[in-house]
Amino acid sequence: MALYSEKVMDHFRNPRNLGVIENADGIGEVGNAKCGDIMRIYLKIDDEIITDVKFETFGCGSAIASSSMATELIKGKPVSEALDLTNKAVAEALDGLPAYKMHCSVLAEEAIKNAIEDYRKKKENKGK
Ligand code: FES
Repeated sequence: MALYSEKVMDHFRNPRNLGVIENADGIGEVGNAKCGDIMRIYLKIDDEIITDVKFETFGCGSAIASSSMATELIKGKPVSEALDLTNKAVAEALDGLPAYKMHCSVLAEEAIKNAIEDYRKKKENKGK
C-alpha cells in the first residue's frame, strides 16, 4: 500500500487556499516544537460565517495537505462549526494519514482554533 493516499498527494501538490488574507478578521499560528513546522491560518468572517480562509504552512507534506483540506472543510461554514473541526476529521477527509504523521493534522485543528480565538478577541476589543 502507498504510504500516502491520493488525496494527500493531491492536496500537497495542488494546495487549495494557499496564501495570505490582508486585513484578516482572525489569524492563528501554531508550531510543533519537535519537527519545527509552522502553520498560519487567516480567516475572513462575515456575520459569524467564514467567507474566506487562506493558509501558509512551513512544513512537511502532510501538514500542507492537512491545512489545504482543513481550509476546504471550514470555508463557507459558521464559526461554531469550524471550532468543532477535529484533526481526526481532517485526516479522515484525506483518506487517512500514517500514524506518525497524525500530529501534522493537529496543527490544522489548532491553527483554526487560534484564528477563531483571535477573531473573538478582536471583536471584543472593537466593542470597547
Ligand atoms: Fe511536523 Fe508534519 S512533520 S507537521
